[in-house]
Amino acid sequence: MTDLAAALELVRTVPDFPEPGVQFRDLNPLFASAPAFRAVIDEMAARLPADVDAIAAVEARGFLLGAPVAVARGCALVPIRKPGKLPVVADRVDYALEYGTATLELPGGVLPAGARVAVVDDVLATGGTVGGVCELIERAGATVSVVSVVLELAALSGRDRVGGQEIQALRVI
Ligand code: PRP
Ligand code: HPA
Repeated sequence: MTDLAAALELVRTVPDFPEPGVQFRDLNPLFASAPAFRAVIDEMAARLPADVDAIAAVEARGFLLGAPVAVARGCALVPIRKPGKLPVVADRVDYALEYGTATLELPGGVLPAGARVAVVDDVLATGGTVGGVCELIERAGATVSVVSVVLELAALSGRDRVGGQEIQALRVI
């Protein structure tokens, strides 16, 4: 088994979290293994297109992946935050989740128009989160180059809400 395959085997499924009927994919055992975490970061960084200028990482679990990928690739990090956290807000978007609704905000003055952006998160489920982030990036005059996630939950059809963006998922389940 490759290092990456072994890393992905560490994702565990927790039934009925955060609500009855949801099969929650928990990446914490993967993050808790240094070689597994490294294998995942190395792979996400290696797969990105060469011309990516910035990583848009989604609070909170997307930060865990997006920040090391940005360092590995030597590109900018743009944290996309939950509401009320940013002192300077460029724009905000409301979106629907698998379990509820939410809002995300783009920090002001950090994403240049024309930047080529990779959106990084842990899981693509319904696609509401990543779809909202893509909307923020495009409204700022930047371009979504690719969406990079560890897991894509195919049954939730998230890619249908992410428009025609390329999606790089390390595992589709
Ligand atoms: C989770 C996950 C993704 C999103 C995926 O974040 O980290 O960002 O949901 O779901 P979707 O494709 O249906 O939008 P959550 O909002 O639970 O926040 P967290 O990272 O703070 O735990
Ligand atoms: N696992 C982790 N994050 C998620 C999930 C899941 O199953 N669904 C939506 N966000």
